[in-house]
Amino acid sequence: MKKSDNISELIKSQLPAEMQEILSIAGQVAGEQQHKLYMVGGIVRDLLLGRSSLDLDLVVEGDAIEISRHFAEKVKGKVTFHTRFLTATVKWEGWSVDFATARSETYSKPGALPAVEAGDIITDLSRRDFTINSLAVDISSGELLDPYNGSEDIQKRIVRVLHEKSFIDDATRIWRAIRYEQRLDFTLEPDTLRLLKRDINMLNTIGRDRIRHELELVLKEEFPEKAIRRAGNLGVLEKLHPSLQGDNWLTEKFMKARGVVSPNSPSTELYLTLLAYRLNKDETEECISRLGLRKLQTRTLRDACLVKSRINKISESGLKPGEIYNLLHGLSHTALVAATIATDSSIIIKNINLYLDKLRNVRTALSGKDLEEMGIKPGPRMKEILQKLLEARLDGQVTDRQGEIEMVEKKKNNKTGSGEITCH
Ligand code: CTP
Repeated sequence: MKKSDNISELIKSQLPAEMQEILSIAGQVAGEQQHKLYMVGGIVRDLLLGRSSLDLDLVVEGDAIEISRHFAEKVKGKVTFHTRFLTATVKWEGWSVDFATARSETYSKPGALPAVEAGDIITDLSRRDFTINSLAVDISSGELLDPYNGSEDIQKRIVRVLHEKSFIDDATRIWRAIRYEQRLDFTLEPDTLRLLKRDINMLNTIGRDRIRHELELVLKEEFPEKAIRRAGNLGVLEKLHPSLQGDNWLTEKFMKARGVVSPNSPSTELYLTLLAYRLNKDETEECISRLGLRKLQTRTLRDACLVKSRINKISESGLKPGEIYNLLHGLSHTALVAATIATDSSIIIKNINLYLDKLRNVRTALSGKDLEEMGIKPGPRMKEILQKLLEARLDGQVTDRQGEIEMVEKKKNNKTGSGEITCH
């Protein structure tokens, strides 16, 4: 943590110039409307830690909706209101700023979304998850508000809840605690750890979309395997599905995934597929429904099961390209990449990579229309000829349009050979 007590200095030295400009415009707008404005949450935590953060959360003592409207006019941005939560988001030129009305939150029952009521900044900080996130900076004076000694906990590198019902109010905080601990190399403060363990079953009170969202946030981390492993050791991972494991195998595969897709980060789909890779078909289906997985995620996980069911065949050496194509065609790209990462077989890797790098892009030169001009009527027979042409292309038996034409002519004339196509 930086020694400087002066948060304004940290803002000047650490935040990009555009962000300082945004803060200054927002501060000016709030001043004109006689509202107090604060920078809160992760950005303040990260400033004190000397980490970069581009996620700007602003809290207004007053009416965030009104401030966001004026702010959007100044930056020529588009504003979206979430009136139920007294918040608004302004987006322009790749920037996004969240305005929230300072508020209190009460939970009618565990896992329910909170009822929201306008309040002051201190009340707002008291509804938050951890002391390290319950800090605010007064934009007009640069004063740091730290009612829960969050800056001390940042210094001690600990994650601490504000009160003992925190995980009961909102059990998604269990995943958040693990995520911050692992991302920042902090430790769960002993009492917080005790409460987390005590309240693990409160995860059952959370709807599947919110749980899936937490998992997606974990998978967006730089090193998601750290949080997954910790969740496994704490008995949190098994709440997603009892067969999921955050072990050495997973760590090794996540690291390999980063190497395979470098210089980009692996997609959450790829990490998710590796996480679920060792589940059998029934377990995969359970996982899909428990987490309410999205369409693309569902398709990828199901395709990974299909790849696994064909893995013995894919692992044969000496497969013809046409055979590899038929085994893998139509399966999700991510599922195939996951299979190359999950396996230790060099033949599987070679066959799948041949498909991904080359075979999947192979096309016949002749189209259905060309075949029609050659006297073949549209229908199953034409489909079969196109299929044979593609296989011949893939296996290198024909290499150009002329070769394909000759092949079709030959098939038209040859009406006897077994498995040959006859054309009338
Ligand atoms: N928050 C909370 N309880 C939650 C979710 C969010 O108290 N279940 C509060 C925290 O104070 C958090 C802030 O809302 O700092 C913003 O939430 P979010 O954007 O998810 O987190 P950041 O702190 O910005 O962290 P990250 O770096 O992960 O974006």
